[in-house]
Amino acid sequence: MRIFFTGGNGKAGKHTVQYLRDQGHRVLNADVAAKWEGGNDEVQIDLTDQGQVLSAMSGLVSFDELDLEETPKFDAVVHFAAVPAITFRPEADIFRNNTLSTYNVIDTATRLGIPKIIFASSETTYGVCFAHGEVKPDYIPVDEEHPTIPHDAYAMSKVCNEVTGRSLQAKTGADIYGLRINNVIEPHEYAEMFPAFMADPALRRRNIFAYIDVRDLAQMVECCLKTDGLGYEVFNVSNDDNSVAMPSAEIAATFYKGIDQTREMGEHETFYANDKAKKLVGFKPAHSWRDSLTEDGKVK
Ligand SMILES: NC(=O)c1ccc[n+]([C@@H]2O[C@H](COP(=O)([O-])OP(=O)(O)OC[C@H]3O[C@@H](n4cnc5c(N)ncnc54)[C@H](O)[C@@H]3O)[C@@H](O)[C@H]2O)c1
Repeated sequence: MRIFFTGGNGKAGKHTVQYLRDQGHRVLNADVAAKWEGGNDEVQIDLTDQGQVLSAMSGLVSFDELDLEETPKFDAVVHFAAVPAITFRPEADIFRNNTLSTYNVIDTATRLGIPKIIFASSETTYGVCFAHGEVKPDYIPVDEEHPTIPHDAYAMSKVCNEVTGRSLQAKTGADIYGLRINNVIEPHEYAEMFPAFMADPALRRRNIFAYIDVRDLAQMVECCLKTDGLGYEVFNVSNDDNSVAMPSAEIAATFYKGIDQTREMGEHETFYANDKAKKLVGFKPAHSWRDSLTEDGKVK
């Protein structure tokens, strides 16, 4: 597929762009931080400017396409660009950047007739991650039916983006899938970060104890590219196990006392339910922190 990918210079984007290229896709990375090195499938762009989005999304991936009779249309858009958290930019600016860029990307893609748009939403929509004080989920495991009423501008921007996606899907009939991505972990971060989580599981409370290996996130994007006809859907994206060494029952007894548990859960099963992604697009998370570390946090 010929794919317009935003945010490919970022933590999740750089792995996902490489993964998609390795699968044989032609990927144009569109990012304000893109470095043009003479025809390397990169475009430096500010996605809050719809003129720039329209121009890049209807343009060339690189020089070789000059010889084609017609510039081909992109088959899909994967939109990862965003300011991905609070505190390092003013909240109103985060809200403006994330909502306007997402409106521009999805609106332009649908106007150009691009039939598949996948965009990054977030675990933070559930209101636990960046809550003022402690907010617990209404029930566990948290699935896509859980209310999305966050306190912070980043998560609000993601809730707003989901409304944008849903409305533009209703208007145009394109397939628009939102990924409620949990905390993204690169392979080297297991040894760097997880020993602290083994020592103090409370550090993972705001992530609902879950995580997503960046390689599995890339696989989820590929699953969405392959699955057509779902209309508008949102998917939790997480690995199968929790990010701490405690069994799920002990986590529930320690951190979720009084919270409704809607079903029996496996010994280490994630509280961030990924069943919908498995059922509807065939997501099969293949990685675990347990491949890299022992349960007492030692590197294997
Ligand atoms: N990292 C996580 O744990 C996590 C968790 C949940 C959701 N997400 C979402 O996944 C996506 C990728 O996150 P990440 O961790 O790779 O973030 P990142 O900050 O590492 O990368 C984001 C990229 O977007 C680009 N960008 C931002 N605004 C732009 C604009 N207006 N125009 C052009 N480019 C712009 C930045 O230059 C950067 O390269 C984001 O949408 C984020 O909200 C991330």
